[in-house]
Amino acid sequence: MMNREQATALDQADPLTPFRAEFALPEGIIYLNGNSLGPLPARAAARVAEVAAKEWGEGLIRSWNSAGWYSAPRRLGDKLAGLLGAESGEMVVTDATGLNLFKAVAAALDLRPDRKVIVMEGSNFPTNNYIVQGLARFLDRGHEIRFVEKDEILQAIGPDVAVVALTHAHYKTAHLLDMAGITAAAHAAGALTVWDLCHSAGAVPVDLNGAGADFAVGCSYKYLNGGPGSPAFLFAARRHHASMRQPLSGWWSHATPFAFDRDFQPAEGIARMLTGTQPILSLAGAEAGIDLACRANAAQARAKSSALGDLFIELLESRVTGHGFNLESPRLAAERGGHVALSHPQGYPIMKALIEAGVIGDFRAPDTLRFGFSPLYLRYVDVWDAVAVLAEIMESGRWQEARFQQVEAVT
Ligand SMILES: Cc1ncc(COP(=O)(O)O)c(C=O)c1O
Repeated sequence: MMNREQATALDQADPLTPFRAEFALPEGIIYLNGNSLGPLPARAAARVAEVAAKEWGEGLIRSWNSAGWYSAPRRLGDKLAGLLGAESGEMVVTDATGLNLFKAVAAALDLRPDRKVIVMEGSNFPTNNYIVQGLARFLDRGHEIRFVEKDEILQAIGPDVAVVALTHAHYKTAHLLDMAGITAAAHAAGALTVWDLCHSAGAVPVDLNGAGADFAVGCSYKYLNGGPGSPAFLFAARRHHASMRQPLSGWWSHATPFAFDRDFQPAEGIARMLTGTQPILSLAGAEAGIDLACRANAAQARAKSSALGDLFIELLESRVTGHGFNLESPRLAAERGGHVALSHPQGYPIMKALIEAGVIGDFRAPDTLRFGFSPLYLRYVDVWDAVAVLAEIMESGRWQEARFQQVEAVT
C-alpha cells in the first residue's frame, strides 16, 4: 500500500502540477466533486469581472461586435472541437445540455423519418430520458424509446432504429461505452448516434470524428470547469450540416438574422443549431475553463485521472475494510470515466460527514457516493488524505450523528 510520502513524491513528478495554481481552491478542502461542478479557475473570475466592467459597462451594446460576443458560441466551439476530435465549424457552445440534446435528437430523427425507435440506456442521467420522452410526446408520430442497459445495446440496434442516444461515461457508475463500436453498429443498421459527453469532456480523450459520431452534446461545468450552469456544447458532423433541421429555430439559427425576415431560413453549417441570445458572462467563465483543458495534454490528463482513481480504490480496499462499501465503478481504469462510485446503504449521512470534514464528493440516490478525480488540480496526496478522513469517519462511527441524517435539497 502506498504511504503518504510516496503519494507526495508522485505529485512532485507530475507534469500537470503547474495547473493547480490556475485554480482558486479554498483552503482546507479536498475537492472530489469536479465530476459535478468544477472549481473556479482564477482566470474565469478575472474574465467575468472584466467582461462585466469593460465589455458590458463601457462597451455596452457595441461589444456584440467589438468584444466578439456574437461569435462566442462558434469561437468556444472551435476550441472544444480540438479537444474532442471534431473540426472547426462542427461545434458550438450554447444553451443547456438538455436543450442541446432535444435539438440534436430532433435533428437526427428528422434525418431518419421512416424509423420510430430511439435506443437509450435506461439508467442514464434522467434528464436525457425526460427530454427524449418529451420530444417523442410532442412529435406524436409513434416514436418508441427502447430502454436497455449497457450489455444489451448492440442487440437493441436493428433496422427499425432511427437514433442511438447514449452517454459515453455513465453519470453514476462511470462505465465507458465503446463510442466507435456502437456508432459503427448504428450506422450498419442505418441509424444515427447522439453522444452525451458530460462526463467525458476534460476527463477522457474523445475522438468524435474518429468514432464517426453524428451528433454529440455535453456540459462545460464538470471537468471543463466552466462555472455553475455554464453553457453546454453541441456537435454535428459536417456531413449532416446541409440537411439537418432542428425545431428550436430562432433568429440565431437564421441565415440572415439581421435581415429580420418574417420566415425562417436556416443558417449554413453548425450555426443552425443555435437558437437565441447567449449568456455572455457565463460564456466568459466557460471560455477560461475550456482554455485550461485545451492547454493540458489530454493523454497526461487521462493517465493522471485514472491513476488517482486507481489509488483511491487501492487505499479504500486496504484502509476502509469491513464497513460495507461496494465498488460500483469498473475496477479497470480503461473501462471507467473520471470518477469512482461506491455504494453503501448509509451513503447519504456518510457523504455529509465527509463534506463537513472537508472532503467534498456527492451522493446519488438511493445509495451511491461519487468521488471525482479531476486531473488538473488534484494531487495524489489529496487522495491519500481523503481516504484517511473516510477511514476515520467510519471507524469512529461519526457519520451516525443526527445532523448528518437531515436531507438537503441538493445532494
Ligand atoms: C449525463 C448527463 N447529461 C445531462 C446532464 C444535465 O444536463 P443539464 O445541463 O441540461 O442540466 C447531466 C448532469 O449532471 C449529466 O450527468
